[in-house]
Amino acid sequence: MIDTVMIRLQNLSLLIISTLLISCGDQPSSDNEKAEGVLANKIIDQKTTTAVGDIDRGSKLYLQCRACHSLKENEPHTIGPNLFNLVGSKAGSRDGYVYSEALLNSEIVWTIENLNLWLEKPYVIAPGNKMVFSGMRKQEDRDDLIAFLYDQTSEK
Ligand code: HEC
Repeated sequence: MIDTVMIRLQNLSLLIISTLLISCGDQPSSDNEKAEGVLANKIIDQKTTTAVGDIDRGSKLYLQCRACHSLKENEPHTIGPNLFNLVGSKAGSRDGYVYSEALLNSEIVWTIENLNLWLEKPYVIAPGNKMVFSGMRKQEDRDDLIAFLYDQTSEK
């Protein structure tokens, strides 16, 4: 069964992306590549984002995360932070959890797109972070897991 999860990210500001976009207009290609790398870290999507995935399948993939994370409101942090209200939140913003400097300073907002990058290669989007996870290679797996995460961590 495929479930479609509609996610509204209207409250996010364009602070960072607008500054970067303005400055990457007519520069030489090497600079553009660099700018895109930076942007990939900091995409802030104001539009409605759609996460499409199989939530049931995602729940099985979540077994890879469960040893270190909890999902529901008021559940304690464990090795990693509790992930309640994850989508749309700023990285490193959960009270009472001691994050790495890398994540605290990353300015990542957890859009669907950024979660996808994080789950594929956590060490690329936030180098030096302390999540010990080598990455999930298949796009389909990441889609299903993100759909599950959104479903489970959103206020209902
Ligand atoms: C071995 C433990 C471990 C596993 C397994 C793990 N994580 Fe993490 N996770 C962490 C730690 C530790 C952090 C905090 C990283 C930091 O501060 O640099 C983190 C951070 C995160 C964050 C950022 C949260 C925030 O508040 O900004 C997300 C999202 C996340 N993990 C999702 C997942 C998902 C989804 C999986 C399963 C694929 C997973 N993690 C597997 C330990 C783990």
